[in-house]
Amino acid sequence: MSESKIENPKSKIPAPPATGLGFISSTLAAPVTAVEAALRPLSFSDFTGQPKTVERLQVMVGAAKRRGDPLNHILLSGPPGLGKTTLAFILGNELGKNVRVTSGPVVEKAGDLAGLLTNLEDGDILFIDEIHRIPKTVEEYLYSAMEDFRLDIMIDQGPNARSVRLTIPRFTLVGATTRSGLLTAPLRSRFTLQTRLDYYDHATLESIVRRSCGLLKVEIDREGAQEIATRSRGTPRVANNLINFVRDYAQERATGHITRPVAASALELLEIDAAGLDEMDKRMLRVMAENYRGGPVGMSTIAVAVGEEAETLEEVHEPFLIQEGYLQRTPQGRVLTAKGYTAIGLKPLTDPQSSLL
Ligand SMILES: Nc1ncnc2c1ncn2[C@@H]1O[C@H](COP(=O)(O)OP(=O)(O)O)[C@@H](O)[C@H]1O
Ligand SMILES: [Mg+2]
Repeated sequence: MSESKIENPKSKIPAPPATGLGFISSTLAAPVTAVEAALRPLSFSDFTGQPKTVERLQVMVGAAKRRGDPLNHILLSGPPGLGKTTLAFILGNELGKNVRVTSGPVVEKAGDLAGLLTNLEDGDILFIDEIHRIPKTVEEYLYSAMEDFRLDIMIDQGPNARSVRLTIPRFTLVGATTRSGLLTAPLRSRFTLQTRLDYYDHATLESIVRRSCGLLKVEIDREGAQEIATRSRGTPRVANNLINFVRDYAQERATGHITRPVAASALELLEIDAAGLDEMDKRMLRVMAENYRGGPVGMSTIAVAVGEEAETLEEVHEPFLIQEGYLQRTPQGRVLTAKGYTAIGLKPLTDPQSSLL
């Protein structure tokens, strides 16, 4: 097997087309809606909350800039809508570098990865969303790319098969995942920083709501902002979505100004309860109470009963329900707490003492 070194890989590897092959330029990778784009914080100073993660990132960015080195690889984990993608773009802005965006399942072959990496410039960020879903065969190529900025790619087959070494620009991999537990140990260990985003508290969400309303030129008073914040499931993306609906409601059913009563009746119309639990959260709690006497019951059983994938329940719903104390995780399975019963308008079957386990 011969090995040849290609100094300028860009001349040998055809650039992937602008669409397909998992290649999306940072301008095309716009958030889902124009409103979401308008609301996305662009710098650390604009980003509220997650103080530990932000400080860790600021330290790394500061040091990388001072030394003129590329930023070390970073893994951001946590439930959807908490700011992982936002932070990846902020890192690019703060460093003054491009951010290329792709997603784990889209990078199907080593060639896709080569296409992405060889199109980067020195110090650029490659953002891989849902990195836990990257195929195993591609993952192995990532190791040497992350560690030594090179890729050994096999070309041709049979007796002509040989490996070609590509030198790639010194880039930064920023991975995002809702399931850091599904990452293999070798991949995880190649990230210098692994940091987890948590749900936002009400006070922080309130300031995010006020910021978003300011940008959208929506009139809202302090109590209106509090009402939306407490019903946002600890999640900025949810808060922004609720603001959009409440703004419409305020225009159509009130004077356009968002107050507590206006926000409350708009959110009642959406069937979002005072604690922000959504329909699926409540369905999970109800199944546990009504079909399984409050548990313990396994997540796959709950998943079948509510008609949703266990993975989604574990990624999106369960972390919030556990953090807020609606259910508990025990070795025997999930257990509904007294607070969980109350949330769905039921009296706890057992006395609260025993549901504490
Ligand atoms: N700390 C924050 N401050 C203000 N807005 C935020 C913050 N975090 C997230 N957002 C808003 O929530 C939306 C979803 O964030 P995003 O980064 O896409 O989440 P994730 O990638 O974790 O699913 C963004 O459009 C942004 O406007
Ligand atoms: Mg995202």
